[in-house]
Amino acid sequence: LFAGDFHFIWASPSIETLPPMAGVEIAFAGRSNVGKSSLINALTGRNALARTSSTPGRTQELIFFDGPAQAGLRLVDMPGYGYAAASKAKVASWTTLIHKYLEGRSNLARVYVLIDARHGLKDVDLDVLKTLDRSAVSYQVVLTKADQIKKSELEGRITDVRTSLATHPAAFPEVLATSSEKSEGIPELRAAMVRLLEE
Ligand code: GTP
Ligand code: MG
Repeated sequence: LFAGDFHFIWASPSIETLPPMAGVEIAFAGRSNVGKSSLINALTGRNALARTSSTPGRTQELIFFDGPAQAGLRLVDMPGYGYAAASKAKVASWTTLIHKYLEGRSNLARVYVLIDARHGLKDVDLDVLKTLDRSAVSYQVVLTKADQIKKSELEGRITDVRTSLATHPAAFPEVLATSSEKSEGIPELRAAMVRLLEE
């Protein structure tokens, strides 16, 4: 499934221009620059499938990627929320798009909510978790950039985030730690996605 067979199919700047629903959709949400696009590249084994940048605000649309035809898996890269090297108006319109998409997409099987391992959950993240809880969309928190902190700090962060998730009905209790740079946690995340397809 994850053998480099993913390809771009659609980019949607607005909620009115989403592609027709097909297959099992899995979306990657998170603050600007958290590493959403990099994680999609690491998962699919394609270096430049999703566009990445050190400047927050790189992904400005909902970007849809399809896996091998029979698998019926579709990955969605999302604009970041929270902050960006873009106008306030743009950030606000992305945030509206993100929330509308997350609450209204019935073939959305799972959302991975990416959190920078160094920073933990922020208020803007909690807003997204609330939208997902309210819409009963199953989601799991994935820590990113795990290569940037010490193992002991990472363990503490995982425990803290797990504790916060206890009050969120649609959240998976498990928190995955990943590094797209060092390919850590990638096989585990792929395995979780395969299990989802088999459900
Ligand atoms: P937006 O589209 O702007 O919201 O950002 P994004 O969440 O898609 O982040 P992106 O994947 O573009 O990565 C942002 C920056 O973080 C880039 O400079 C990446 O190289 C870096 N980065 C991503 N993942 C990792 C990681 O696992 N480790 C380290 N050290 N850097 C990472
Ligand atoms: Mg991006």
